[in-house]
Amino acid sequence: MNSFMRITAAAALMTAVSLPALAEDPFETEIEARQGLMQVYKYNVGILAAMAKGEADYDAEAAQKAADNIKLVTMMDNGGLWAPGSDSDSVEDSKAAPELWSTFPKVGEYGEEMASAAAAMADNAGQGLDALKANIGPLGKSCKTCHDDFRVK
Ligand code: HEC
Repeated sequence: MNSFMRITAAAALMTAVSLPALAEDPFETEIEARQGLMQVYKYNVGILAAMAKGEADYDAEAAQKAADNIKLVTMMDNGGLWAPGSDSDSVEDSKAAPELWSTFPKVGEYGEEMASAAAAMADNAGQGLDALKANIGPLGKSCKTCHDDFRVK
């Protein structure tokens, strides 16, 4: 074995040794994905909220796109990302309260509420600033209702 091969073999061994450490949190991928989806909500709600508050000029096309994005995410089936055992008491990286699972299917009802608020926003966001403003409250409230119960501080 020449020295280059020895280094390569050592590097391969180190990779193999570090893999179990990565696997310690079995739901890391799921948690990152669901937090990522939440960030997509936040990004798009932020666009709509800025227009509603007058911090950004109303732009029908941009508003419609943001509202459509939110609605589309509510239509995805992301059940697999909320695996039992991935709550904030069981793993380090999650802020999802154990009650999300113990009170199931309550979380589903909150999800439905958000989906209908998002659909209403998508029907209205491109129809003028007043139509957007009339729907931003219910949409924001639908996020907060679920966070109040199921997201730990
Ligand atoms: C049905 C429940 C529910 C609804 C509805 C909901 N969220 Fe969340 N949200 C959660 C939970 C639970 C977490 C914590 C997830 C975790 O850390 O594992 C969270 C986390 C977040 C985070 C932090 C993500 C991160 O990077 O850690 C943001 C931002 C967020 N939500 C934004 C929103 C916005 C904006 C809406 C509404 C458009 C919304 N959420 C609707 C349950 C919900």
